[in-house]
Amino acid sequence: MLSFYRSYHGNTGAAIVATGDPRRWPNEYADDHVHVFGPYPYRSHFWSTSPEQESERALAHLADVVRFEGPGTIAAILIESVVGTAGVLIPPPGYLEGVRALCDEHGIVLILDEVMAGFGRTGKWFAFEHFDVVPDLITFAKGSNSGYVPVGGVIISEAIAATFADRVFPGGLTYSGHPLAAASIVASITAMREEGIVEHAARIGADVLGPGLHALAERHPVIGEVRGLGVFWALELVSDRQTRAMLAPYGGTSEAMTVLVTEAKRRGLLPFTNFNRLHVVPPCTVSDAEAKEGLAILDEVLTEVDAYYEGAR
Ligand SMILES: Cc1ncc(COP(=O)(O)O)c(C=O)c1O
Repeated sequence: MLSFYRSYHGNTGAAIVATGDPRRWPNEYADDHVHVFGPYPYRSHFWSTSPEQESERALAHLADVVRFEGPGTIAAILIESVVGTAGVLIPPPGYLEGVRALCDEHGIVLILDEVMAGFGRTGKWFAFEHFDVVPDLITFAKGSNSGYVPVGGVIISEAIAATFADRVFPGGLTYSGHPLAAASIVASITAMREEGIVEHAARIGADVLGPGLHALAERHPVIGEVRGLGVFWALELVSDRQTRAMLAPYGGTSEAMTVLVTEAKRRGLLPFTNFNRLHVVPPCTVSDAEAKEGLAILDEVLTEVDAYYEGAR
């Protein structure tokens, strides 16, 4: 299995490794996992200076890793269509298409993780629909039923589903295919269609959140980059725009980030932060007025955080 360093895909793998029965055998791949650097134009691992170059170089890096690991040893490449917790990283032009081509060249399965990005969050039903790519497997959870009951699942291509036409799938969970959970997905999708929720999320991103966050970046020097789609945004906070020095270190936090969280909560806004980033990820149903109210609170909070800016203004 090959995936990104900057990613989050869940934490339940140890359960099958603890399992003793034969279902463990085909599933015991957790210790044979290789990571690559995905594209990240703002903090390029490849010294690139444009999104196009980042895409090309990240693909070359991926192709190198596949070659050196041995294409025949790689079952699947697993990628969040838009990386979520690890940064709201939107693939630059051509990247996902290039990954698909590499998978096709070597017979590698492409799994796109849509647990966070799927079901309207980016302004399309699936985030990969922003690109010219079709995965073999799609993992989903959160948005599929808006969390009314716990649920997650995998959408399987016809070709892979056919594999299990004449052999047993080596898995099975207590609540697999739970009718209540399945019904909650059907009902949520129906309501989302009827109420135009996906289109609404796209419009809020284009008309309110995108412009609103870019306007904040003009006023607050700590905002190094604004990126996102639909109702899925992140602010990359820096102490210096020139050097892009992070306002908190990778894997850690800082006084500035603590101030941000404290000041936001004090004003009734519950923020999600990760290291030096603030994620702005309201529900797909957020109204224009609610989104603007949140932006106004952020404006006040960021005024406090600007005190930690050290670069030229
Ligand atoms: C992109 C992504 N994939 C997978 C997961 C894990 O999902 P679950 O907690 O339903 O196993 C998460 C959880 O936040 C996630 O954000």
